[in-house]
Amino acid sequence: MKAAIIYTSITGNTDVLAEQVYKEMYASGISAELIAIDDFHYDTLTNYDIVAVGTYTWDNGEIPLEMEELFTAFETQQVKHISTGIFGTGDSFYPYYCGAVDLFRDMLYVHTDLAVTLKVELMPQREDYTRVKQFCDRLVRQLVTI
Ligand SMILES: Cc1cc2nc3c(=O)[nH]c(=O)nc-3n(C[C@H](O)[C@H](O)[C@H](O)COP(=O)(O)O)c2cc1C
Repeated sequence: MKAAIIYTSITGNTDVLAEQVYKEMYASGISAELIAIDDFHYDTLTNYDIVAVGTYTWDNGEIPLEMEELFTAFETQQVKHISTGIFGTGDSFYPYYCGAVDLFRDMLYVHTDLAVTLKVELMPQREDYTRVKQFCDRLVRQLVTI
């Protein structure tokens, strides 16, 4: 069983969230690889059984530039077997709060076995950690029930 958390972060919010996802998955018995997008090898994507994608939102609800190749990889590779979750941080000051999470969610729903979505306002707070645990539980359970 192979699992990865593939994420991007500029100011650190999504980084903290990704680390929390990593810890909760580990607590659920899944030893995932925590991979910053710049270090990800796209030809390994189909090797994974579980992938959690983490992204912030940019530029009026858009996916950050560095995540576009991953988005396309999911659209074009054979990834139907992968249980996926999408998480992200955003700022509800903007009209499209966590828009990149919504864009990934819609695409992952079509191309993969999407299990769960999580949006967090800016830096994760203690009360978000329960939601992170629920995110991981859903993602892991999805795999077990296949
Ligand atoms: C120029 C700019 C545009 C942004 N646009 C959005 C947006 O459209 N929607 C949103 O929810 N957040 C938006 N944000 C907020 C970031 O997504 C948010 O600060 C996020 O937590 C940053 O993640 P990071 O700390 O992992 O880099 C924007 C931030 C900046 C600086």
